[in-house]
Amino acid sequence: MQAQEYNDIMKEYRLLVEARLGDIERSTALTEGVGIYPTLRKAMFYSLEAGGKRLRPCLLLAVCELLGGDTDMALPIACGLEMIHTYSLIHDDLPCMDDDDFRRGKPSNHKVFGEAMAVLAGDGLLSLAFETMLKGAEGLDGEALKNYLKAVNEVASRAGSGGMVSGQAADIVYEGEHNQTEEMLAYIHTHKTADMLCAAVLAGAYAAGAGDEMTAMLKIYAQKLGLLFQITDDVLDFQGEAAALGKTPGKDEASGKLTYATLYGVEGAKQKARITADEAKAAVSDVKNNGLLLAVIDNILYRSF
Ligand code: IPE
Ligand code: IPE
Ligand code: MG
Ligand code: MG
Ligand code: MG
Repeated sequence: MQAQEYNDIMKEYRLLVEARLGDIERSTALTEGVGIYPTLRKAMFYSLEAGGKRLRPCLLLAVCELLGGDTDMALPIACGLEMIHTYSLIHDDLPCMDDDDFRRGKPSNHKVFGEAMAVLAGDGLLSLAFETMLKGAEGLDGEALKNYLKAVNEVASRAGSGGMVSGQAADIVYEGEHNQTEEMLAYIHTHKTADMLCAAVLAGAYAAGAGDEMTAMLKIYAQKLGLLFQITDDVLDFQGEAAALGKTPGKDEASGKLTYATLYGVEGAKQKARITADEAKAAVSDVKNNGLLLAVIDNILYRSF
């Protein structure tokens, strides 16, 4: 698949997701007063509407459509996943975590609203994600409902304490650790990042009612893709441009983070990225019409933001 075609398809998904997120924001305004406290609402949507690549929700919809599923039905799950991702970024930037002042091209949430409100904005987005996903189940029954709930469950378990949150915990614990090992690094990246990419791919597959064989192939693909995504994030922390990234590069080494680039050097990390990209491609070589799945890999491997 050519880059232009890939960009056009992903743009369509992005517009769908952003339109629905906008609807959700407007619907919460209607309940203002009895609904979300105004300052909290501002803080939540400040970060959610700040943009970002929207990779996870777009990937979810792309996989769902590829497998013959209904993207309209899957859209609330895609939006929920993006809300959870956004909350994880708000908390990740807090002074007690990575202490980052910029995100998505704007001052981080806590720089605008203060630390307490940033914690609460994250909490708010996390619960709004589940409200959104469960509302999306209304009116479904039979096999469609079963598939939908399986997809939501995948998001819940990958995002939670057995998934992304544990990766974030290990990331903090191993910061500055003298004896940093490849095993620790694998644990961190598998959970803090790959779990959310797995959630996207597998929720898209479950929403479409994919069978065991397809799901098994996609699971390996998503794990590799997630690892690739964090390796390139680690490389970009060394070599990326702040203006393109929308966040401040150059912090991982200074703060003693355990990353591919700090453990193996930038060239070692790039080599690992190429190998991981090949492994991701091999995982879906037997999937029919795999053009978009392959294009996602190259897009991440060669990304500059
Ligand atoms: C940043 O994710 C956090 C990591 C897992 C490295 P993204 O690079 O997808 O951030 P946005 O959503 O585009 O802002
Ligand atoms: C963050 O990893 C992953 C999550 C938010 C779950 P990083 O800390 O490397 O992400 P950036 O570089 O701040 O975006
Ligand atoms: Mg972090
Ligand atoms: Mg960070
Ligand atoms: Mg990073």
